[in-house]
Amino acid sequence: MSVKGLMFCFSCSEKDTLDLDEKLYTHFGLAHTRWATHGEPSAVNSHPHRSDKNNEFVVIHNGIITNYKELKKYLITKGYEFESETDTEVIPKLTKYVYDNRENDSITFSKLVERVIQQLEGAFALVFKSRHFPGEAVSTRRGSPLLIGVRSEHELLTEHIPVQYNSAHFKEVVQEKNSHNRPNCSSSEGDGKAVEYYFASDASAIIEHTNKVLYLEDNDIAVVRGGELSIHRVNRQAGEDPVRAVQTLQMELQQIMKGNFDAFMQKEIFEQPESVVNTMRGRICFDTNTVVLGGLKDHLKEIKRCRRLIMIACGTSFHAAVATRQILEELTELPVMVELASDFLDRNTPVFRDDVCFFISQSGETADTLMALHYCKEHSALTVGVTNTVGSSICRETDCGVHINAGPEIGVASTKAYTSQFVALIMFGLMMSEDRLSLQNRRLEIINSLKVLPEMIKKVLTLDEKIKTIAEELYQQRSLLVMGRGYNYATCLEGALKIKEITYMHSEGILAGELKHGPLALIDKDMPVIMIIMRDACYIKCQNALQQVTARSGRPIILCSQDDTEITKNAYQTIELPQTVDCLQGILTVIPLQLLSFHLAVLRGYDVDCPRNLAKSVTVE
Ligand code: AGP
Repeated sequence: MSVKGLMFCFSCSEKDTLDLDEKLYTHFGLAHTRWATHGEPSAVNSHPHRSDKNNEFVVIHNGIITNYKELKKYLITKGYEFESETDTEVIPKLTKYVYDNRENDSITFSKLVERVIQQLEGAFALVFKSRHFPGEAVSTRRGSPLLIGVRSEHELLTEHIPVQYNSAHFKEVVQEKNSHNRPNCSSSEGDGKAVEYYFASDASAIIEHTNKVLYLEDNDIAVVRGGELSIHRVNRQAGEDPVRAVQTLQMELQQIMKGNFDAFMQKEIFEQPESVVNTMRGRICFDTNTVVLGGLKDHLKEIKRCRRLIMIACGTSFHAAVATRQILEELTELPVMVELASDFLDRNTPVFRDDVCFFISQSGETADTLMALHYCKEHSALTVGVTNTVGSSICRETDCGVHINAGPEIGVASTKAYTSQFVALIMFGLMMSEDRLSLQNRRLEIINSLKVLPEMIKKVLTLDEKIKTIAEELYQQRSLLVMGRGYNYATCLEGALKIKEITYMHSEGILAGELKHGPLALIDKDMPVIMIIMRDACYIKCQNALQQVTARSGRPIILCSQDDTEITKNAYQTIELPQTVDCLQGILTVIPLQLLSFHLAVLRGYDVDCPRNLAKSVTVE
């Protein structure tokens, strides 16, 4: 399970040798960061992949080709020799095969690509370049994200690009208002008014160049030729939008820079006092104690009538669902299921038209979550997206949704997106319970706590030095257990995920109620155990678990409420946290574990932002 990212800038021509002093009127750039799905990361497995030694066709690819073995076998029988271990290499070779077997010379590059992708199974975002079609590049996607950045110093004639179906001839679709001054990256007219196009998997890759982007749909084929962009596809499906709109992203370059921090993850942890405010901004009115999520308000009646809520996600986003399940059950008075997207699909889980299905995803592109969304749509459920990425697939394909507005998250380990997902889901519960008289005191307690949440987060962040000292004691350990229950069980799962993901230590989130059913066997004087014991409904039960641990000479590091002397006297180490309402406490308890995993990874000498084998957006199953 892995993903690759691509970025491609088209505005110039290609050459075999480079004269660095030569002035070019057109240019073309191609870049790719690779997490291997097939074969080890090595020069030979790196993109672009090629059709042959003459580079007749070259391709970069993000995704996975699931039928590559069959295609490879077939192409080998046709005399093709493969040089890499990748799935991708079949694509340029297949392209050459189709080109060499064309019926006549009038075939266009896009037609060729259209024929090639008809043979591909799996997920892909692709950029093609060919010697046979100079000054032209073609890009397409199915299942993997792909966007096009448009950069011009001149106003565009239209920000709505019509899709051209089937044999429609290519027409200029992005151009300046003065058609005689058409933006033309090849500058063949020499007017110097260039337009640059960037094909990328993610907006953060191109934001330093442009904030104007359009998102391609599955099976769209985008062509840049002679400085002009056109988008086409084979057939128009019922209900399909025949236009791709250029959107202006609000993302700023400084938002994705590290600033004074050593790593994006660290910066993102410290951004949480502001990111949770951004999630609440314009949605919670603290004067009237009302909550309005604009993207859901038109569907509220339908949601209130539903049979059950199903929250579907992967990894950290799944933990946000676990963290808020109990309070959503209480505030919505509905049954709430939480589902790991892959397992949900494996089970062919029954879904009904009166179910409401939430798809929680930072990237909005996670393949399993996206497939679960397709599955629920097929079963006619109402679908709700909770994403951090405007324009992402989940955002576009759900019936309605909530943007968590946490700002770009670059570190592979998700931190601020988790706390913002958490807050967004709580806000949903508050919105659903507005007219429930019996819940008014509870709502008020939560809203008042949300108001001071940013200040509380700041207090927790002041514990950074202490947490670093604890990390210095722990970083040579092989394993770390994280134990708790109730509202803090999700923190245990999330803390353990953070630790294993970036420190490569074994770590396990344990429900304290399960201690005697197995995990207790792991406890001895050498096993570090982090325990979360806050003053809430599970306090006494957690104290019992603590006794079990100390009775076996365990050395618990305890996250507890400030000034809880009862707990501190039994602890090996304590991290004392401000107390908030039970259902929000998980936001404050997770931050020390985010910081701990960060310091452990630094002490162990690992790249915190890019852990081995993992990718930020998991766009393959
Ligand atoms: C968390 O640190 C991980 N990077 C991972 O578990 C992530 O949350 C998961 O892959 C889901 O991603 P999404 O939120 O973009 O859907």
